[in-house]
Amino acid sequence: MDVKGHAALVTGAGSGIGAETARALARAGARVAVLDLNREAALAVAKEIGGLGVECDVSDAKSGETAVAAARAAHGPSRILVNVAGILIPGRIVGRDGALPLEKFARVIEVNLIGTFNMMRLAAADMAGLEPLADGERGVIVNTSSVAAYEGQIGQVAYAASKAGIAGLTLAAARDLARLGIRVLTIAPGLIATPMMLTLPADVQKSLTDQVPFPSRLGHAEEYARLALHMIGNVMLNGETVRLDGALRMGPK
Ligand SMILES: NC(=O)c1ccc[n+]([C@@H]2O[C@H](COP(=O)([O-])OP(=O)(O)OC[C@H]3O[C@@H](n4cnc5c(N)ncnc54)[C@H](O)[C@@H]3O)[C@@H](O)[C@H]2O)c1
Repeated sequence: MDVKGHAALVTGAGSGIGAETARALARAGARVAVLDLNREAALAVAKEIGGLGVECDVSDAKSGETAVAAARAAHGPSRILVNVAGILIPGRIVGRDGALPLEKFARVIEVNLIGTFNMMRLAAADMAGLEPLADGERGVIVNTSSVAAYEGQIGQVAYAASKAGIAGLTLAAARDLARLGIRVLTIAPGLIATPMMLTLPADVQKSLTDQVPFPSRLGHAEEYARLALHMIGNVMLNGETVRLDGALRMGPK
């Protein structure tokens, strides 16, 4: 679909990849709701792009419902959802202090996997009530996995499991929502230069980028945004997870 004039939800849009995607959607003419756990960050990005900033914890059913309702009240039901919110809590299964606390594993699954599903179910319910566009399309959902879904590194069991869960639900969700004319796609980024990544020491950044065959550098959030907008615009793309990684295949550490 052409995003122009349509309402869009972007989670984790207060920073990094989500913020850049919100900017790109706004530039393309969408009415964007900037959802983030960090209220100030959401409001700042929303102000910059003329969107709506909403505090939202994607892992919480009530918070997700309230945020989607606020976006609906301001912009109407959204035809587009880009699920970007995510966290990484590293930890080995057995570390110096013994077994990995179960809460740490559970929290990553709650935010990354359950949070993605929470926002998907709420957004899809709104999309279901909209008039179909060309090809019978009512909406499109783009999720964010990671190359860690395929090559999880040491200390990333929770993150890898959460991101593999997102890749795993993509086809099932696309099939499930097909009768409503809603597409579901996922992007699995490699190493993207977001504030988090850029705070790493220069030598660590270099050792990471040396592993990327071509182009041998960190990806830009804008490259993610461009792929997300292409996915939204290309109605034949559905049920697929696309790696965005310069052919990176991560080693054990
Ligand atoms: N940067 C990378 O190299 C990279 C690589 C692969 C995948 N990813 C994925 O891309 C996504 C964005 O990464 P980023 O680098 O832009 O990270 P980031 O930390 O810059 O941004 C993530 C945003 O999500 C928000 N957030 C965290 N928990 C939330 C919650 N419960 N509810 C709502 N918002 C919440 C944070 O406040 C933050 O604004 C994440 O899902 C991450 O796993 C990033």
